[in-house]
Amino acid sequence: MDSIVIRGGHRLKGEVRISGAKNAALPILASSLLAHGTSTFKNVPLLNDVATMRRLLIGMGATVEPDGGISRTLRINTDGVDKVEASYELVKTMRASVLVLGPLLTRHGRAVVSLPGGCAIGERPIDQHLKGLEAMGAKIILEHGNVVARAKRLHGASIVCDIPTVTGTENLMMAASLARGRTTLENAAREPEVEELGRVLNKMGAHIEGAGTSMITIEGVEELQPIEHAIMPDRIEAGTFLVAAALTRGDVLVRDVVPEHMEAIVAKLRSAGAEVTPEGDGLRVRGRAEIQPVDITTQPFPGFPTDMQAQFMVLATRARGQSVITETIFENRYMHVQELRRMGADIVVDGRTSVIRGVPKLSGAKVMATDLRASASLILAGLVAEGETEVLRVYHLDRGYEKIERKLRALGADVRRMKGRG
Ligand code: EPU
Repeated sequence: MDSIVIRGGHRLKGEVRISGAKNAALPILASSLLAHGTSTFKNVPLLNDVATMRRLLIGMGATVEPDGGISRTLRINTDGVDKVEASYELVKTMRASVLVLGPLLTRHGRAVVSLPGGCAIGERPIDQHLKGLEAMGAKIILEHGNVVARAKRLHGASIVCDIPTVTGTENLMMAASLARGRTTLENAAREPEVEELGRVLNKMGAHIEGAGTSMITIEGVEELQPIEHAIMPDRIEAGTFLVAAALTRGDVLVRDVVPEHMEAIVAKLRSAGAEVTPEGDGLRVRGRAEIQPVDITTQPFPGFPTDMQAQFMVLATRARGQSVITETIFENRYMHVQELRRMGADIVVDGRTSVIRGVPKLSGAKVMATDLRASASLILAGLVAEGETEVLRVYHLDRGYEKIERKLRALGADVRRMKGRG
């Protein structure tokens, strides 16, 4: 496995372009299973999670072109799909594999998807996905570690989610789009990625209203058509670069962002003292010499995203004063804390709340994390730490950040990838 080595102390300057959103691409690629023919997706990010989704689709009998994994344009033909299964080997590397459950079941009447186990950031059950599908008439059993779902044809249902779940809402929207009759999803997730999937499904011929709000109505249709669609920019990658710029007291134009997706993140950056201004298709951030403490509680969209919690914690380690961060979405999303402490951070965790007292400096160390955003936060810490930081197990980072070391280097950071070291 590779590692990333950073020598801290460089202010970031210049422009960076944000790639397509991982968490939009994954459900959208899965949605190709809903139609016959060839769908074309553009601006697909070059990420390991996308490669996993690609393997999943190919394993079911789809063809994906081009053959190699390095194109941002993918053409997916689903005519040959005959194996309606997602194996443990793939689900264990990517929980979002569960996104094929809804499309397979509604289009093929059957799906076998390995039940994802707990993961580094929490237990992460999929009970809401299953409850919704059952309400639509699916017969679901758990057998040999797999979810086995069957339904001749799903029917519409009134579903109230106990909690807003992003992939759960997406799975149910996809399933309901080919069900007989009307489905309503109350307490649906409102994330921009859900809204984007709604747009994609409607382009395919679905009748969906309210995607992006907590009440979604889906009138099932008989069939859907393949489409061409460009994936929207990744708000979490954008947020990570905004924090990197503020943290290093830099001056960076983060391009290809949708400002409405970034409001909670930008508001907290401003409270931390950074200057953030819209400029063309992007946001310019200028870091100030003194970082102010920030209090953050993670919330479903439009609240502050859990996927930015670890990165803001690094910012808080350099603030003048004490910040309080509360993680309400995942019960165990503090993987980065131990590692940041090893770099000299002063962080006390009590349950879901952490108290961070700013320190005058962080010092470089060998660190690693077993979750994507935690790994990103360690790279950020490395940018301002004294000396050298080596982030091991970069595998996690490559799941969700496209060539992060190249993008940071182009902004003036001293970052390099060491092949086979992590
Ligand atoms: N939950 C349940 N039952 C369910 C589903 C979810 O109890 O059936 C709970 C979860 O355990 C969690 C909360 O509901 O406590 C919210 O989880 P959600 O289902 O919304 O998360 P997800 O759909 O599994 C997506 C993103 C995550 C992101 C979360 C929260 C994708 C592919 N993944 O996960 O992204 O953190 O929403 O916004 O969209 C990442 O990119 O690093 C990442 C982890």
